[in-house]
Amino acid sequence: MNVAIVGAQWGDEGKGKVVDLFTSKAEYIVRYQGGNNAGHTLVVNGKKTVLHLIPSGVLHEGKTCLIANGVVFDPVVFFKEIEQLVDAGALGADPWNRVRVSERAHVILPYHCLVDKLREEKASKSAAGKIGTTVRGIGPAYEDKVARRGIQVIDLIRPEVLKQKLAKAIEEKNILLEHYFGGEKIDLDSLYAECVTLGEKLRPYVANVRGILAEALGYKRPILFEGAQGTLLDVDHGTYPFVTSSNTVAGGALTGSGVGPTAIKQVIGIAKAYTTRVGSGPFPTEIEFTEPEMAKKIRDIGNEYGATTGRPRRVGWLDLVAMKYAVQVNGMTGIALMKSDVLQDFDYVKVCTAYRLGGNTIYEFPTSSDDLSKVEPVYEVMPGWIKYRAESVCGISELPEEMRNYVKFIEDFLKTPVVLLSTGPGREETLEISDPFRS
Ligand code: GDP
Ligand code: IMO
Ligand code: MG
Repeated sequence: MNVAIVGAQWGDEGKGKVVDLFTSKAEYIVRYQGGNNAGHTLVVNGKKTVLHLIPSGVLHEGKTCLIANGVVFDPVVFFKEIEQLVDAGALGADPWNRVRVSERAHVILPYHCLVDKLREEKASKSAAGKIGTTVRGIGPAYEDKVARRGIQVIDLIRPEVLKQKLAKAIEEKNILLEHYFGGEKIDLDSLYAECVTLGEKLRPYVANVRGILAEALGYKRPILFEGAQGTLLDVDHGTYPFVTSSNTVAGGALTGSGVGPTAIKQVIGIAKAYTTRVGSGPFPTEIEFTEPEMAKKIRDIGNEYGATTGRPRRVGWLDLVAMKYAVQVNGMTGIALMKSDVLQDFDYVKVCTAYRLGGNTIYEFPTSSDDLSKVEPVYEVMPGWIKYRAESVCGISELPEEMRNYVKFIEDFLKTPVVLLSTGPGREETLEISDPFRS
């Protein structure tokens, strides 16, 4: 049984924690899209680890972590992360036995980060405003991939073809850098030397990831696909143009790793019991300006600061209109509801069940980000729940009644079961209701 984990909102839902937890049931853990724009936090025995590129199963010995073709791969970030894990004793002396990188993944090079940064700086001075990217070169690297001038991991380990490919890759970039942004050009020789060095270091990690997965499927070994970002940041289905540049929805796991649709049986959407968003773009249930004290309270208790950039996350109530949409575009079979502990001891909680737009009540997530920025949320106000001792709760029936009602309301509205309830950042602070690997 193979399972995909996807973000059901705008990212940072707690995917890292769930992947770490589910890794005990899987043998292969696969990152299939995005890059080091992701920040996935794991808390094991009180120790926090933040992963940006390496799959969140890496703390488990004996499991294979794969970075598949759909990922945009920054080798410098990769080695930094590997070294941190080795220093922490989480990876042995031969980390390539546990972590493999697809030959087909596209490489993020320094000029991608530079273009990302310069573009955001320019946009912030324009009327349209910036996207608020993580400035990790993600968008420019995917652009080059689709424009068919990207550098793939396999090119890094073939110096004989690399120089010519790099020359082609930077031809237009240099015109852009010099004449549009008024910056400095990229020097081909030094970039080539840097890439050859990185390629040599990377060689033992490089693998035919698709082939590894085909073999695993053949032997029916359990695979866990780890999504990054969230549904509403998907380049096709999200709040375009305020999105990331990859397919964050479950479909991305297929093209992003080279398996067919029948390979994935369960799609678990990870959602917070409220909503957050980092970066610009519409956010109907945002309460930063309507209930600033409540927003501050949630941000403080939930420690809502970006795991990648440290930016404060924008905070709002749970948006079930957006979640219903996420259930549909992912074919979600279950929900992992995270951070419900953050809402303990609140007098009330609100849940958005519809939007008001131009005098009408609508129940569907609008296609246009312009419309979405104008909607007014329609809320169901529900009683809050008293503080409970998460460590002493062994089953869902021991949770406060109001909290159980909240969970039930979500399940009924979305017609999708909550399969996991997270009550704190730690691995053990979790109530597993059913096991997606066995259903
Ligand atoms: P991801 O990008 O989806 O993996 O999520 P992040 O790691 O960026 O952000 C989630 C944050 O919430 C991290 O700091 C987690 O340690 C933390 N977290 C996860 N689940 C829970 C939970 O149930 N309760 C609380 N209080 N924190 C949680
Ligand atoms: P995880 O995997 C939250 C957001 C950025 C910006 C937009 C585009 O930790 O949930 P990009 O750098 O990708 O071009 O930025 O997407 N973004 C995320 N927001 N969590 C993430 O990842 C994100 N990765 C990108 O803030 O709004
Ligand atoms: Mg994150």
